[in-house]
Amino acid sequence: MILPIIVRRCLLGAGAERPFALTGAGNGVDSAKRAGVIDLHCHILPGLDDGSRDLEDSVAMARQAAADGITKVCATPHIRHDHDVRIEEVADRVEAVNARLREEGIAVEILGGGEVAETAVEPLSEEELARVALGGGGWILLEPAPGPLSDTLIRRVGHLANHGHRALIAHPERHLSADMFERMAALVAEGALIQATADFFLREEMEAGMLTMAEAGLVHVLSSDAHSSRGGRPLRLTPAFERLGAAETLAPRIEWMAETAPAAIIAGAPLELPFQPSL
Ligand SMILES: [Fe+2]
Repeated sequence: MILPIIVRRCLLGAGAERPFALTGAGNGVDSAKRAGVIDLHCHILPGLDDGSRDLEDSVAMARQAAADGITKVCATPHIRHDHDVRIEEVADRVEAVNARLREEGIAVEILGGGEVAETAVEPLSEEELARVALGGGGWILLEPAPGPLSDTLIRRVGHLANHGHRALIAHPERHLSADMFERMAALVAEGALIQATADFFLREEMEAGMLTMAEAGLVHVLSSDAHSSRGGRPLRLTPAFERLGAAETLAPRIEWMAETAPAAIIAGAPLELPFQPSL
């Protein structure tokens, strides 16, 4: 199936009722009752890859997160040949940002992680895999190689499974091909889950394709993949979940996608899929 990524779709009118209430800031829900929204993919560590430029930028990104109702952010620097990210340093870098956030009184916690390139994952040791697992819970954010999703990516998911890890596939919507949906479904069949980029649901030229992908059961979590407070995608998830929740077939999945699945991923807890790919 071809992802109609450039097909435009009429948006709901501004007054349309939203059939879900995400427990985030800005929707009238008592924040004290929130379980908390987690961003599993974010380049918030400063001066490390192509993400946050400095600590002030990281603090500003955390403020964006807090304003959106996000309570935890996985720091996912690129683990890839073109970025000199030293895995053994990630934990200390995470703590340095957390210390500053505590000083500032920003109620956002940064967790460890990494965005591990398909081409970089096999040489990683058991210890390194544990260090880049999202929140320490065992899941690895796996970035596909440039171009269409390949058979190699499925083999990397199997490689991770053989080492006791599950894969969260990062933004496969960037890897278009005629058989992209079938390849994504094959990844899910191998035990992977799919992370889509939240901001893409808000772009007029991409919205229809992204919703088609979600309605096919091929999106499990949304993440910001934010790189800076000074440009690019903001660190926010709520507007995209609101867009998803406006779709009748997707509304029942929102709580699982926004809270249940991310919480289980960072905890390494069992996670049952409430929906399957339907192509
Ligand atoms: Fe990323």
